[in-house]
Amino acid sequence: MAAMGVLDDRVALVTGSSRGIGAAIAVTFARAGARVVLHGRDESALAEVRARIADLGGEAVSVTGDVTSAADLEHIRERVLDHYGHVDVLVANAGSSDSRPAPIEDITEESWRADIDRNLTGTFLTVKTFLPGMKQRRSGTVITLSSAAGRKPSERTIVAYAAAKAGVQVFTQDLAAQVGPYGIRANCLAPETILTETNRRWIPAEVQSTLAEAHPLRRLGTPEDVARAALFLASDDSSWITGVIVDVAGGAVLV
Ligand SMILES: NC(=O)c1ccc[n+]([C@@H]2O[C@H](COP(=O)([O-])OP(=O)(O)OC[C@H]3O[C@@H](n4cnc5c(N)ncnc54)[C@H](OP(=O)(O)O)[C@@H]3O)[C@@H](O)[C@H]2O)c1
Repeated sequence: MAAMGVLDDRVALVTGSSRGIGAAIAVTFARAGARVVLHGRDESALAEVRARIADLGGEAVSVTGDVTSAADLEHIRERVLDHYGHVDVLVANAGSSDSRPAPIEDITEESWRADIDRNLTGTFLTVKTFLPGMKQRRSGTVITLSSAAGRKPSERTIVAYAAAKAGVQVFTQDLAAQVGPYGIRANCLAPETILTETNRRWIPAEVQSTLAEAHPLRRLGTPEDVARAALFLASDDSSWITGVIVDVAGGAVLV
């Protein structure tokens, strides 16, 4: 582990860090010196990420729970306080969708509510749970995860997921305005398609190539691309930046 990391002495909780983008953020933060709290629901996947961090000489513990449940989040908060006493960097990354693009009249109320819950309500509950501690300490940084889907419509858009992710952007900007006077910053990352293990498995190779061609930088993003942007927003290098939406998208979203 580097002797002088930009997150030395910071405690970072990364929700949804059992795999994908969250795992890359957690490993990157640990490399930068943070003590990391991993989170997810899959204990064995969490153990793998914990082992990767331990191999790097870093420090991580893990907690489990559903971010759509206020009770689970309260339990997570108690565990984190027991371990580390506070959180300096909160990354509300957990989110997903099982839905498919569909005409609005064909979207069931159940799937609409599930997408809003997992992505928008989960982000709200996560921030609500940890914000009082940050305000009390008058310091902290929050990073939320939106998506290119929430920046502009496309034929691949899952409308409820996109609406939830657009909601995450406005939520983050409102949060930034509210907590700035407490010395707390809040910013939002909006990735285009990222080659996570899940996307590598589910997006056929020829579709990956077509998608890559639609990016000015002619490739798809990696979890590490997002993690490096998260590291910048988590560190003091971005101390004058709050309330922004960062398109981590290889130029695919030019708004
Ligand atoms: N990958 C992309 O192309 C892309 C693009 C734009 C935005 N994003 C956003 O980036 C974030 C990470 O995406 P990803 O692709 O890395 O996802 P992923 O590989 O599917 O991993 C999702 C992570 O979130 C956790 N999670 C999901 N729902 C949860 C819930 N209700 N309660 C607790 N944990 C939950 C999962 O935990 P378990 O697996 O342990 O249950 C897992 O750790 C998400 O917010 C996603 O919407 C992704």
